[in-house]
Amino acid sequence: MLEILSPLIGLPVQILRGNITRLQLDGRAPNPVTEEVSLVDITVNGETRQLDVEPHMPFLWALRDELGLNRTKYACGIGICGACTVHVDGQPRRACILRIGDVRGSITTIEGLGSPDALHAVQQAWIDAQVAQCGYCQSGQIMTAAALLARSPSPTDAEINAAFGGNLCRCGTYPRIRKAVRLAAAALAGDSAPRTR
Ligand code: FES
Ligand code: FES
Repeated sequence: MLEILSPLIGLPVQILRGNITRLQLDGRAPNPVTEEVSLVDITVNGETRQLDVEPHMPFLWALRDELGLNRTKYACGIGICGACTVHVDGQPRRACILRIGDVRGSITTIEGLGSPDALHAVQQAWIDAQVAQCGYCQSGQIMTAAALLARSPSPTDAEINAAFGGNLCRCGTYPRIRKAVRLAAAALAGDSAPRTR
């Protein structure tokens, strides 16, 4: 039916099916190699947004360029450094290798973890332990720490090492990251002093 209607009412089949094809508006015929975009609904930091993007766009591009959430960083672009870590339904995921069309669930970025007036315990611990050096990797490190403590409130050294195995820091802040994770664990548990295991 759509194929019959399409030429009659002058709209591409993709539009009738809910996809949109970018059309040239200068009077020329559309480029046969059209760039398809789709309307994608995503929930980021508690807010549902509709994006008009190519489904294969890396989720990191959508966050940074479409939503202006640019504190999630781009580094390797191939899923091995952790700089772009966000939470998808509470699980740490690499936004650079997720396609926007495949994203399902509730997204939290570093902007949604806490606020300047109400820092997440991990963010406060990062300040207290003075973790950051250049800072570039740190939003990914903090998101990894928050996900770790959500699933393991009192992680062992082995659990910490395993959780951060895929988060690289060229400044070598790893000892301070471990210290901050223990500080945050203690704060979340209501302890005055961090525990070491
Ligand atoms: S930029 Fe995504 S893992 Fe490195
Ligand atoms: S603080 Fe510089 S890369 Fe981690």
